[in-house]
Amino acid sequence: MQRDIEKLKAYFQDAPADISLADVDLERLPRHVSLIMDGNGRWAQARGLDRSRGHVAGVDSLREAVTTSVRLGVDVLSAYAFSTENWKRPQREVNLLMHLFATTLVKELPLFHQENVRLRFLGDLEALPKETRDVFQRGLDETERYDGMTFALAVNYGSRAEIARAARLVAADVAAGTLSLDDVDADAISSRLYTAGLPDPDLLIRTSGELRLSNYLLWQLAYTEMYVTDTYWPDFDRWEYLRAVRAFQGRGRRYGGVVNS
Ligand code: IPE
Ligand code: IPE
Ligand code: MG
Repeated sequence: MQRDIEKLKAYFQDAPADISLADVDLERLPRHVSLIMDGNGRWAQARGLDRSRGHVAGVDSLREAVTTSVRLGVDVLSAYAFSTENWKRPQREVNLLMHLFATTLVKELPLFHQENVRLRFLGDLEALPKETRDVFQRGLDETERYDGMTFALAVNYGSRAEIARAARLVAADVAAGTLSLDDVDADAISSRLYTAGLPDPDLLIRTSGELRLSNYLLWQLAYTEMYVTDTYWPDFDRWEYLRAVRAFQGRGRRYGGVVNS
């Protein structure tokens, strides 16, 4: 964890009336924050714009969420950018998103360098257009040595496909004799998920009001605190982030045990 208090205070200046940096306990921050970035299309439609404009505006929110996470000292930020089901969308929108991922990453790489952020991807990248895959690989290569925050972007990600893949990997190891049947436990699955090595999310934020997971991190979210805001993703800013953290800190996490007093 890295946190620069002066930068942090400057970043959270000009607070709105209902929330400020003082409302969160910096010693009890979620270690891993995860985002379901939803509502780009509705944001655009509400303004009479094409859905694609919502996706473009959503990039600014994601950049701000990365910066907010770094400033606060969150260890891992993950974000759902494209699901295995999103291929059902009109070809034009899919193409735009794939191109947007590539161009945005190229533009934003300096931020990762500047803030010591390591990039990861969750999902099957093989199915992505070559332009996007190549840029993603460049991002991975250029940031692999960074040990500040980890930013994990879920692209062509689906939880069921991820778990099925982990099961396949387990089966292959058992068949090869490198894993015994008795050792097939929760850790054996976790270590074969795209999120291998990352802590499970402490806080999941979903924008645009939908109360569902949409095939996101079904395994990893077992004991995650969920926060849903009606705000559309392009309007999600550092203050919304703080409101989510404040809500998180008001929860009593029990993991099936009893309340700590
Ligand atoms: C989230 O916004 C972005 C992606 C799923 C790629 P949507 O595009 O789902 O926006 P809505 O839900 O239709 O408003
Ligand atoms: C979930 O949003 C996927 C991403 C945010 C990438 P969707 O907009 O695809 O989810 P549904 O269709 O409303 O469940
Ligand atoms: Mg949506």
